[in-house]
Amino acid sequence: MRILVTGGTGYIGSHTCVQLLERGDDVVIVDNLCNSEASVVESLREITGRAPTFYPVDIRDRDALEAVFAKHEPEAVIHFAGLKAVGESVAKPLEYYENNLSGTLVLLGVMRAHDCRKIVFSSSATVYGTPASVPIREDFPTGGTTNPYGTTKLFLERILIDLQKADHRWSVALLRYFNPIGAHESGKIGDNPTGTPNNLMPYITRVAKGVLPMLSVYGDDYPTPDGTGVRDYIHVEDLAAGHLAVLPKLDEPGVHIYNLGTGVGYSVLDIVHAFERSTGVKVPYRVVPRRPGDIAECWSDPSRAETELGWKAVRTLEEMCRSSWNFEKSKA
Ligand code: NAD
Ligand code: WQD
Repeated sequence: MRILVTGGTGYIGSHTCVQLLERGDDVVIVDNLCNSEASVVESLREITGRAPTFYPVDIRDRDALEAVFAKHEPEAVIHFAGLKAVGESVAKPLEYYENNLSGTLVLLGVMRAHDCRKIVFSSSATVYGTPASVPIREDFPTGGTTNPYGTTKLFLERILIDLQKADHRWSVALLRYFNPIGAHESGKIGDNPTGTPNNLMPYITRVAKGVLPMLSVYGDDYPTPDGTGVRDYIHVEDLAAGHLAVLPKLDEPGVHIYNLGTGVGYSVLDIVHAFERSTGVKVPYRVVPRRPGDIAECWSDPSRAETELGWKAVRTLEEMCRSSWNFEKSKA
């Protein structure tokens, strides 16, 4: 297939591009490199032996995007491009709404102009807000997002649903990711946030490396087995495979919604201990007050994706920890 991947040099996009290239798809990446590096393109070639076509383009730049579509006429788009830092989105709501909403609106307009009506959208478990219960199923209500980042995902899901309602030729996959961690086994690509990481695993790997002194565990008084927050951590390679699994579904016009998670919840301390066990490296931590906006527990019911797509997360927590550490160690 000819597939356009927006945000393809980013964390999840790059792992998805590896699998697309490995199975022989023609991959065209557009990414403005605001949160990734062009060197990822070379890493993709090293890993797969095939090079994607790369354009350092901002998806809000309609003329540039139009030129990419005119040259490649993609059959489908996997749309990862967006800003994703929860805390930053609270401080810079206009930038988040502008980038994530305008970028997607421009993309959809250009797709329509080129008769490309198949899109896989990176959504998030954040659209469920504070769920009434766990595990979370796709038919749970969405809404109640607690930050502008999450609200961009909620709004974009709605825009895509409205678009499909108005023009039944569209095929829209809304993939609601839980907590991706881990890295490609080669150690050549992974999650590489600039500055101090907000997410748990990149923080842990930097503490393990000695770049940061200590992990702050945000609260141990949640109504969970050990008091720390519980999440559904999924290996990024399993998550990437979910994107390939959903592509055939796009032959059926409609809106296809899937949770991509493992269905298992682990606490913050479970992750710390699993990391120590699987790498042999200690992670010093202290407990500090809860982080505003965090929920106690969040994990998926991933059974719809297994039943309808034949997709299931298979990699273990140990593999997630080991590969994250392997990536951190191999960074310059
Ligand atoms: P990432 O920041 O590593 O990748 C996103 C990429 O998009 C980056 O390479 C960035 O440079 C690019 N980008 C941003 N705005 C752009 C624009 N206007 N034009 C072109 N490129 C642009 O993030 P990720 O973790 O790989 O996430 C990918 C997608 O998945 C995002 O939409 C994110 O919101 C979503 N998501 C991520 C998580 C997670 O925990 N990582 C969870 C749920 C959903
Ligand atoms: C996981 C757990 C923290 C850092 C976020 C977004 C969500 C999605 C994934 C995009 C929580 C605890 C964390 C630290 C800690 N992204 N923690 N110390 O908050 O579940 O989800 O990323 O869509 O929208 O909200 O992930 O990795 O930040 O936190 O104790 O230094 O680790 O409190 O319980 P989260 P996270």
